[in-house]
Amino acid sequence: MSTRHSRLPSEMTVERIVRTVAETSLDVREGLAGRRGYEDEENPSGEKQLAADLWADELFEERLLAIESVAAYASEERSGVVEADRTANGDGRYHVAIDPLDGSSNLRTNNTMGVILAVYDSPLPARGRDLVASAFVLFGPLTTMVVAVDGSVTEYVLERGSGGVEMRTVTEELTLPDEPTIYGFGGRVPNWTADFEAYVREVERELKLRYGGAMIADVNQVLVYGGVFAYPGLESHPKGKLRLQFEGNPVGHIIETAGGRSSNGERSLLDVPPERIHQRVPVHVGNTGLIDRLEAALDG
Ligand code: AHG
Ligand code: MN
Ligand code: MN
Repeated sequence: MSTRHSRLPSEMTVERIVRTVAETSLDVREGLAGRRGYEDEENPSGEKQLAADLWADELFEERLLAIESVAAYASEERSGVVEADRTANGDGRYHVAIDPLDGSSNLRTNNTMGVILAVYDSPLPARGRDLVASAFVLFGPLTTMVVAVDGSVTEYVLERGSGGVEMRTVTEELTLPDEPTIYGFGGRVPNWTADFEAYVREVERELKLRYGGAMIADVNQVLVYGGVFAYPGLESHPKGKLRLQFEGNPVGHIIETAGGRSSNGERSLLDVPPERIHQRVPVHVGNTGLIDRLEAALDG
């Protein structure tokens, strides 16, 4: 993480951002029913938008830009960066990128989905190395939040309390298990590159398949059970599907903070040069050995 300038311990100044996302995520979860229909517009990545995508995005924008340390807001659902109103805002040191609903296609099937938060201390689009915190909230049987900040990963259960959201710590210093057990790969077999497919044919004989269509739910299984998640570059789309600013960088930061590795196929996701807000990147995250092998396979 960036050590370019001294600042208050990031928990103190970033905690308000994390808590705001936690509390807003509970509101989003409770508001999903009745918002499962598709809107007419598409998002900047050319994907259909659910009413829930747009509604969640508006909630996060409003509440995060009201925080004085937040300078700007970007999300999967809007083309440009929204700058905070300078007069109302204080030091404006953090730039927030959000995926307001990751895995929204799982809403119709009532499968797990959630929210991704990336907090950078440099203007967007930013390098993953400039993340000061990253997190995801999972709408599963429980509502949980995984947060990487100041070198460690913590898992919380989120519940409504009398004073707003209660973040109950359930796992501290979360690290990937040494022994991997699961894998999950996006895209379709005919669209995989030959080198990636050769890697899959090895891994599928060693691990169990777990793929659910929401990256953060699949990544959370890698965090808990060990293994590898990838949405690789495809023959038709060499940069794959996932976006660097609010999908690749935050999950790369979380997995690397938990002792694993991330890769775009050649290097850590956190070292991929930022070019555009909606730039796509091949995402591979998991146990170090499995990612090392993947890079060797793609270097074929
Ligand atoms: P989003 O709902 O924010 O667009 O993200 C969906 C992404 C990611 O969560 C998941 O890994 C991937 O899309 C699943 O893609 P496929 O439907 O092609 O499997
Ligand atoms: Mn997403
Ligand atoms: Mn999304």
